[in-house]
Amino acid sequence: MKESNFILPEYPITLEAGKIEWKAPSNIALIKYWGKKGLQIPANPSLSFTLQKSLTSTSLSYSPIEKSENFSFEVFFDGKPNPDFKPKIEDFLSRVDPYLPFLKKFHFKIETTNTFPHSSGIASSASGFAALALCFAELERIMNTGIDPELFLKKASFMARLGSGSASRSIQGPLMLWGDHSMFEGSSDIYAVVYPFEVHPVFRSFHDTILLVDRGRKSVSSSMGHQLMVGHRYAGKRFDQASDNRTAMKAILKNGDLNRFVEIVESEALSLHAMMMTSIPYYLLMQPNTVAIIQKIWEFRLRTGLHLCFTLDAGANVHLLFPDDESVEVYNFIQEELLEHCDQGGLIKDRVGLGAVMVS
Ligand code: DP6
Repeated sequence: MKESNFILPEYPITLEAGKIEWKAPSNIALIKYWGKKGLQIPANPSLSFTLQKSLTSTSLSYSPIEKSENFSFEVFFDGKPNPDFKPKIEDFLSRVDPYLPFLKKFHFKIETTNTFPHSSGIASSASGFAALALCFAELERIMNTGIDPELFLKKASFMARLGSGSASRSIQGPLMLWGDHSMFEGSSDIYAVVYPFEVHPVFRSFHDTILLVDRGRKSVSSSMGHQLMVGHRYAGKRFDQASDNRTAMKAILKNGDLNRFVEIVESEALSLHAMMMTSIPYYLLMQPNTVAIIQKIWEFRLRTGLHLCFTLDAGANVHLLFPDDESVEVYNFIQEELLEHCDQGGLIKDRVGLGAVMVS
């Protein structure tokens, strides 16, 4: 499917003022997106678990106006006006404008809130842009009720991607693919799709417990990190590695081979951080507590033979991934050995989820 498929020929229904609300989850990448081309085209294919409890809830109130030159909107976060979010949303609106030609005929009030704490160091851009894109896709659907449900979801993912790449994977679940890959028919660089192959039941109830090591703002943003992959000495090899890992995941996800799963997931996380450490300028987002947790996880696995593994985003927090039938032992281990490495004992217990939902 091409960009032009997302331009609808007509909007038969004229709208009065109204309000739409969607809740979208965060996601955690197993195969990491790091590096992009052009306008949010990933340099390599990625694969993620959609989460269940780490959500952004966004409402979009709309009222028709005389068509204006600029976008007319205001943004509220946790009930208070938040002008800091406006530039990013303005960029998002100008990117989706060619696909939603009615945007300048409305005034919008965007109200957003997250279930996870603001100062947790958890990026809200994936869930935030997914929820926002779904609100706009819904607005379009009210004006053209005939839109095919498949096209609706693809367009929402396509628009979310234009806000933040990883947001494309937050529309549906439980496993999402983003990025063209010859082994995965139907995969695309411009939107994410639900992983279309057989998945072993063990992955349907996987846990992701996020250990909050650092709640602060990151020293280097993800946008900057992606840019530093341009001309990076190891970029080509890294993109090949991600592509190969995604191929390898197909058999692992089918067979439920947890040992191989652990190996690929941890290797992806460390390779992502290795790219940061070998960028010019180089930088380091892991902290001593991140490394201490990783080492304790490795000892725990050796000692118990269980399948707890970690992954990292572009930050110091550690995502612990483990199957449901090992959760009692893992929670005891977290309590006894890992909590001491978290900022004020902070953690978020999440699990694999099914995707965004509209709030009626
Ligand atoms: C490390 O999606 O935040 O989390 O497209 O610039 O908004 P932008 O980047 P973003 O990058 C996420 C990178 C990552 C890995 C991943 O989620 O795949």
